[in-house]
Amino acid sequence: MAKTVFITGASSGIGRALALELGGRGYDLFLTARRLDLLEELRAEIASAQPARRVEVRQLDVADDADVAAAIEQAAEKLGRCDIVVANAGLGSSGPVGEGRIERDRMVIETNLIGAMATIDAALALFRRQGGGQIVGVASVAGVRGLPGSGSYSASKAGLAVYLDSVRAETHREPITVTTIAPGYIDTPINQDMKSRPFLIDVAKGARITADLIERRVGYATVPRFPWTVVAPLLRVLPTSWLARGMPEREFSTPD
Ligand SMILES: NC(=O)c1ccc[n+]([C@@H]2O[C@H](COP(=O)([O-])OP(=O)(O)OC[C@H]3O[C@@H](n4cnc5c(N)ncnc54)[C@H](OP(=O)(O)O)[C@@H]3O)[C@@H](O)[C@H]2O)c1
Repeated sequence: MAKTVFITGASSGIGRALALELGGRGYDLFLTARRLDLLEELRAEIASAQPARRVEVRQLDVADDADVAAAIEQAAEKLGRCDIVVANAGLGSSGPVGEGRIERDRMVIETNLIGAMATIDAALALFRRQGGGQIVGVASVAGVRGLPGSGSYSASKAGLAVYLDSVRAETHREPITVTTIAPGYIDTPINQDMKSRPFLIDVAKGARITADLIERRVGYATVPRFPWTVVAPLLRVLPTSWLARGMPEREFSTPD
């Protein structure tokens, strides 16, 4: 029987490429996102390349946690079981702090952190009933240290990585694997407006590496592994002045 995967945020970027990659490796797929038209296109693309694969698509906003739980149950029902759940859906940076972007910040946290937590919570409940499974959370190297212009995004990804640590410890004695994927810069719409994207890789390569890491059931890994496995810990100790290099000079008014 084919292994089965549930993916959030499969309409674009990493989620989409991972669906194509895992479809090519013989997995049956349950793909979700808000843009159903893009999921339908993806289903057609996978069906023409891999006619033997079963591909289900479903509209899902991860901010609706009751619907997240319903979608995961539906995936298990339709595909027979659900071996892997990938909490991938995410929104990009909201911009510098102090500029009244708190509403967008809230959306970033609700999608990247609470949405992923809802996905993982429902997956774990299912895995306990079905006797095992693998949780995959897509964090980021931006969660290793708060980056300028990226406060809510970095906070969401740091929160997700730490949450996954808790889940890994809680499930240590169970047949459940918890995999934290921390991408560096992968060429997708989320970062296409950024001025600097160090060590950028294309999305198909990012998906190949991610699929390899999932199949090897790693606990935590950056994508690509090198140089980020070396650079990410350095981020923690770099002086703030180095991180602040790209920030614009600001004018301050002084009291008369
Ligand atoms: N690309 C990188 O360099 C990079 C680096 C580190 C981490 N990541 C993480 O990788 C994940 C995928 O990002 P990407 O680079 O592939 O960006 P992307 O191309 O913009 O894809 C983001 C995906 O998330 C989905 N999404 C956003 N809000 C959602 C919501 N409320 N409910 C359900 N789905 C939602 C989008 O689908 P709909 O709009 O159709 O809902 C889309 O499929 C994100 O968690 C991102 O933070 C990416």
